Amino acid sequence: MIKKYSVKKLLNQGKFLLNKKVLVEGWIRSFRSSIFISLNDGSTIQNLQIVLSTNKLDNLIMKKITIGSSIRVIGIVKKSIGKKQYIELQSLDITIYELVNPEILQKSILQPKRHSFEKLREQAHLRFQTNIFSCIMRIRHHIAFCIHKYFHEHGFFYLHTPIITTSNCEGTGKMFQITTMDLKKNQLIDYAKDFFKCKTYLSVSGQLEAETASLGLGKVYTFGPVFRAENSNTSRHLSEFWMIEPEIAFYHLEENINLAEKFLKFVIRYIVENSMEDLIFLNQCLEKWKKKKKNYLLEKLELILKFPFKKISYTETIKILNQEEKKKNIKFSHPIIWGMDLKSEHEQYLVDKYFKKIPVIIFDYPCSIKAFYMRMNNDGKTVRAMDILFPEIGEIIGGSQREERYDMLLQRMKETNIDFNKLWWYLDTRRFGSVPHSGFGLGFDRLVQFITGMNNIRDVIPFPRTPNNAEF
Ligand code: 4AD
Ligand code: MG
Repeated sequence: MIKKYSVKKLLNQGKFLLNKKVLVEGWIRSFRSSIFISLNDGSTIQNLQIVLSTNKLDNLIMKKITIGSSIRVIGIVKKSIGKKQYIELQSLDITIYELVNPEILQKSILQPKRHSFEKLREQAHLRFQTNIFSCIMRIRHHIAFCIHKYFHEHGFFYLHTPIITTSNCEGTGKMFQITTMDLKKNQLIDYAKDFFKCKTYLSVSGQLEAETASLGLGKVYTFGPVFRAENSNTSRHLSEFWMIEPEIAFYHLEENINLAEKFLKFVIRYIVENSMEDLIFLNQCLEKWKKKKKNYLLEKLELILKFPFKKISYTETIKILNQEEKKKNIKFSHPIIWGMDLKSEHEQYLVDKYFKKIPVIIFDYPCSIKAFYMRMNNDGKTVRAMDILFPEIGEIIGGSQREERYDMLLQRMKETNIDFNKLWWYLDTRRFGSVPHSGFGLGFDRLVQFITGMNNIRDVIPFPRTPNNAEF
C-alpha cells in the first residue's frame, strides 16, 4: 500500500521522504507550462507542486485538466529545483475524480482571479475551495479549539445548554418561535396542543442554565449557537451566531473582568503562535485589496497583547465623551446623556481615537439599559455590568455579576416585565445556597472577524444566517 499524505504533512515532512513513493489527493489550483500542477487539499494554504512526466498517459491528462478539477496523484518526492518550495512530486500516475467544465468554471468564484466578498457569499457552497475562505475557516477552527483548551486547563466544565427554550434570557429583542402546529389554519392558537404543551423559541443565550449549573459545578462554560430575530442588517450582526458563556460561582465583577481579559489574550496569543501561515496570507490580501498598511493584522493583534485593557465606569465614559465633544469640537449624531445606551459611533470614538485601539472595559451601567439579572449596586441606579469594546468591532463581550439576592431579583423581574412564573426554576437557585457569581458572553464570530480582519461578519462563518438569507 502506498501511504497517503495530506499536502500539509507532505510539505512538512518532505525532506525525510525524498525519493519515496506517496499518494496525495486534492484540487487543481493552477496549471503552468503544460507540466506544473499546483495542488491544494485544504490542509494548508500552501500548494504542492506536481510535475507531470512526458509519458503518454500524462500527455492525455494534460490536455484535459482544468482548474478546480479533483485528482489523485501517485508520485515520487523530489527536491525541487524551483525556489518557492523545498519539495515537489514527480508524477507516476494520475487519476481524475472530476473535471470541471471550463464554461461553468468561468462563472464561478473558483476562476483564478480576484472576486469580491459579496460574490463569494453568493456561492457559499464553493467558498471552501478559495484561498481566503479556507484560511478564515482554519483560523476559526483554531480559535474554537483553544477556547476549549483554555477553559479545560482552568478547571471549567463544558455545559451543553438547550437550544429550545421557553424564556428570553436577555428580556429584549425578538426570538424565533418554534412550533409543530400549522399556524395558518388556527386563528386562536392553543399552545397547550403544541409539541411541548407551551410556546417555545430558539434560545438567545445559555446563560440562565449556565448560572444554574455553576451553582453546583462551580465553573462552567457554554459554547453553542444562539438565535436572534432582530432585523439588524449590519456588518457585525448575524441571526444565528456562536456564543461562549463562562459562568463562575463565588466570582465578583472584578474577577470576571480579569478572567475575560486573560482569556481573550490567551486566544489571540494562541492564534499568533499557531496560525501564522494563514495570518500572513490574510495580511497580504488586506494589504493588496484594502490598502491596509504593511503588517496591519499582526500589529493589531500584538497591540491587544501588549497593554492592559482600559477599565472605566459608564459614568466616567459619559464624562469623557462629553469633554471630548467640547474640546475637540466633535459632533456625535446622538447627544451624550447619562442613561443612554452607547451607540457604535461613541464606542468607536472611545476605542479607536481616545484609547488608541486598546480594548476598553466599561462597567457599572445604568440598570435601565441592562438585563434584569445583573446585580444592583448600592446607588440603586447602576448594575454590575461590563462590556468589552474592541477596535473595529465594538462590543465583543457582554457580562455581569449576577443578582444573587432572591428579593432583589424578583423585584427586578417585575420592574422589567419578565414573566417570573415561567422562570420559577431560575428564581429557585436563589433559595438553595445562593452565592455571588458572575459570567460573560463572548460573540465568537465577532472574535473571528477581529482576528482575521474581515469587514463583514458574514465572511467568517461557513453558512451565514441574516435577515432575508438562509440559503445553502
Ligand atoms: O451582550 P449579549 O446580548 O449578552 C448575553 O447574551 C449574555 N447572556 C451573556 C452573558 O452574560 N452570559 O451578547 C454577548 C455577545 C456580544 O457582546 C456580542 O459580541 C455577541 O454576543 N453578539 C452578537 N454577535 C453576532 N451577531 C449578533 N446578532 C450578536 N448579538 C450579540
Ligand atoms: Mg450586550
